[in-house]
Amino acid sequence: MRAYRFDDPNSLDALRARDEPIPEPQRGEVLVKVRAVSLNYRDIALILGRYVWEAKPGLIPCSDAAGEIAAVGDGVTDFKPGDRVISIFHPRWFGGRPPAGAAMQTYGNGVDGWLAEYKTVSQEAVVRLPDGITWEEGATLPCAATTAWTALSGSVPIRAGNTVLTLGTGGVSIFAVQLARAMGARVIATTSSAAKAEYLRALGAEAVVNYAETAEWGSHIRKTVTGGTGVDCIVEVGGPATLSQSLRAVRPFGEIVLIGFLTAENPGIDYFALKGSNATLRSIAVGDRAALEDLVRAWQGSGLKPVIDRTFAFDEARAAFALLQAARHIGKVVIAVGG
Ligand SMILES: NC(=O)c1ccc[n+]([C@@H]2O[C@H](COP(=O)([O-])OP(=O)(O)OC[C@H]3O[C@@H](n4cnc5c(N)ncnc54)[C@H](OP(=O)(O)O)[C@@H]3O)[C@@H](O)[C@H]2O)c1
Repeated sequence: MRAYRFDDPNSLDALRARDEPIPEPQRGEVLVKVRAVSLNYRDIALILGRYVWEAKPGLIPCSDAAGEIAAVGDGVTDFKPGDRVISIFHPRWFGGRPPAGAAMQTYGNGVDGWLAEYKTVSQEAVVRLPDGITWEEGATLPCAATTAWTALSGSVPIRAGNTVLTLGTGGVSIFAVQLARAMGARVIATTSSAAKAEYLRALGAEAVVNYAETAEWGSHIRKTVTGGTGVDCIVEVGGPATLSQSLRAVRPFGEIVLIGFLTAENPGIDYFALKGSNATLRSIAVGDRAALEDLVRAWQGSGLKPVIDRTFAFDEARAAFALLQAARHIGKVVIAVGG
């Protein structure tokens, strides 16, 4: 089988496919014939040295895949050859509190990931993909969609009539727009691009603010867009350099869900802005297996379609990473695997 690895952990040019033996499923494991993989910002953050956790060099990248069970090991009862499945983001986090060390057991930084033609995993590390969802669509659900789902269904779940603020047009944010609208929430979004603003409006965002033109977008959203109220929930993917604006945009006792670190600058946190916001800050890590199962059910029921900017062939994997790094995409970038 062919599998991609980074010969140099710090360079996109060092991503190469090589021939490797097809792994054999051990007791309790399934062998998955991979059909599609989707990329997430963490897949390039690892190369750029911007990931929050350490990474082992030389691993197969990518956490998100859809595929078909090709064989099962002894003792596997949940799946049989031919079943359609998707990966779960944390291979050992099934519910409740995550096991110690879960962050270092994720794909691409702690263990081999999914950018290969075949992969063996525990039967607990995949969930069923319903027939109505294509391989490419299924491969977008494990990380970005589950993160958006966790963000909106937290300790204070989003309800119809709430206002959700999303930042930019990457994978997590576009899923958050779609899910928030499906829940009956109002969506305010930011982007740096006029063309992407049109797309956000077409998806149902009622107001879009260009964060490149309006540096004080947090106050603008609070004072002008929401008439002084502020937003109920912010899907915070920008991180260190956007948090101060998010603290201005959130309503008192609203929630800022800490998710991403897309911004490189790290100006620090103003304690008085943090305290004065009266907001709850909730830091999340994608979600557990149960969250992915809930998301798949909700997604299927909603009839929504993931926004896939482009699907690349397996041989074009490096170009797929380059598109994500250039941030020209809207939603998800996918790599089709096999025929
Ligand atoms: N903690 C978790 O559970 C978790 C889970 C998933 C992802 N993440 C993190 O969340 C972040 C988003 O991931 P992703 O895969 O959705 O990323 P992505 O698809 O690569 O998002 C790229 C987009 O982010 C937007 N962006 C960049 N800088 C921005 C800024 N200063 N303000 C607003 N938007 C900005 C841009 O949108 P425009 O072109 O429209 O401006 C860009 O196109 C990453 O940091 C990722 O590692 C965390």
